[in-house]
Amino acid sequence: MDQKKKAPAKPLKSQENNLLALEAKYCSWGDTVHYAEKLNLFSAADGIYLYDRAGTEYLDLQMWYSAVNFGYKNRRLNDALKTQIDTLPQLACQYLHEDKIVLAAKLAQGIEKSFKAKGRIHFNVGGSAAVEDSLKIVRNHTGKNLVFAFMGGYHGRTLGATAITSSYRYRERFGHFSDRAVFIPYPYCFRCPYEKKLRNCDLFCLKQFERLFETEYYSVVNHKTGNCECGAFYMETVQGTGGYIIPPREYFPRLKQVLDRYNILLVDDEIQMGFFRTGKLWAIEHFNVVPDILVFGKALTNGLNPISGMWAKEKLIAPSVFPPGSTHSTFSANSLGTAVGLETMRLIEESDFSRQVPAKGKYFVSRLKQLQHKYPQIGDVDGIGLAIRVEICQKDGFTPNKELTDAITTIGLSGNLRAGGGKRGLILDVGGYYKNVFTLAPSLYITRPEIDLSVDLFEEALRKGLSKIK
Ligand SMILES: Cc1ncc(COP(=O)(O)O)c(C=O)c1O
Repeated sequence: MDQKKKAPAKPLKSQENNLLALEAKYCSWGDTVHYAEKLNLFSAADGIYLYDRAGTEYLDLQMWYSAVNFGYKNRRLNDALKTQIDTLPQLACQYLHEDKIVLAAKLAQGIEKSFKAKGRIHFNVGGSAAVEDSLKIVRNHTGKNLVFAFMGGYHGRTLGATAITSSYRYRERFGHFSDRAVFIPYPYCFRCPYEKKLRNCDLFCLKQFERLFETEYYSVVNHKTGNCECGAFYMETVQGTGGYIIPPREYFPRLKQVLDRYNILLVDDEIQMGFFRTGKLWAIEHFNVVPDILVFGKALTNGLNPISGMWAKEKLIAPSVFPPGSTHSTFSANSLGTAVGLETMRLIEESDFSRQVPAKGKYFVSRLKQLQHKYPQIGDVDGIGLAIRVEICQKDGFTPNKELTDAITTIGLSGNLRAGGGKRGLILDVGGYYKNVFTLAPSLYITRPEIDLSVDLFEEALRKGLSKIK
């Protein structure tokens, strides 16, 4: 991509400064842009790369927090959008169009095949909005406002989704959240909340959860009625913002047994991990558990016209219990989004992601583990498919090192790395309970040479970061 021809460097810089001055004055700072020390302006994207206004190439290892699983400017998905623009670009969501029906059927039939459970799809626009819809389903079915959710979980920033997201930081400014979830420790084995070791803990954390039901005085259950005060348990199979934490395989089946005893619904938030991020269509397919509700978003449209949604078991969403008008949004099931979503599903059906993604992930993790041997500051490397975590620590390989994590991120964004020849940037997303985990979510089409380049760029940024903070 030859962006360099577009404009000489000097006027570009002053144009950029003007834009940044306007941004500082007229854009709300309430989103996450100003988390960064130095702001980057991007003007193009292609495959695994973003480009700034000067044409510098940035290898993207986050792909819009896993919304662009199928690569920037994916020709097939872009064409689906373009065709739809010229046929049925707009339609009020109270009317039907073919793609909505076919997409819902494809998703529901796939889930029926994988989980042997019948259900329906309800579309919305963003992930948080779909989470809100799922909360309505839970309240409608159980009559309860309260739910369990995991510490370290992230379900979005609308008010309902914030109430079930663990960080108090997201709630602090916004008054009292009476329906705040009951937060339970997640099986984060690298930093076990109970300081146990997986090899001999027999899922101690799960037993602690189970103990909550021993007596009414632990506050969640009334044994006289057999009722739990919480109607559902919200989980991400693999925690996303929490730091791409992969639970032990036996955790969720055992959790589900406890939930079933008290008729507590299991709500699986696949917004970040769905659509083959982990090597399966749904991350929960790795864990031998059937959810009652499954929420999805992000990569269904590869980051083009957004569509989110939920699947719920028939008994929760049948028209007799969730009648017309129960929830609605102007842009839900928008025809541009459903056209792309349908094409995404067809692309998935015709691809071999279930073989390719785990193979690529394994190679990526093995390369990062080689780095781990050289740098004790890489405390943990783990992955499932192409959801990969790199936890940055002090020299002891355990104490979280946010300073180094931030330095590496900033160095990546400066666009001055030399690995692979030339001048490049590296885009990394930071998550984790201590904001010290790189959550790598590359394009599912990333090649081996591109993985090698990613690791070389990462190593260069790490080396520079180490010398910067010395
Ligand atoms: C697991 C999970 N749930 C919900 C959301 C919220 O989705 P959105 O940002 O589209 O509202 C996100 C976003 O990152 C997410 O990762």
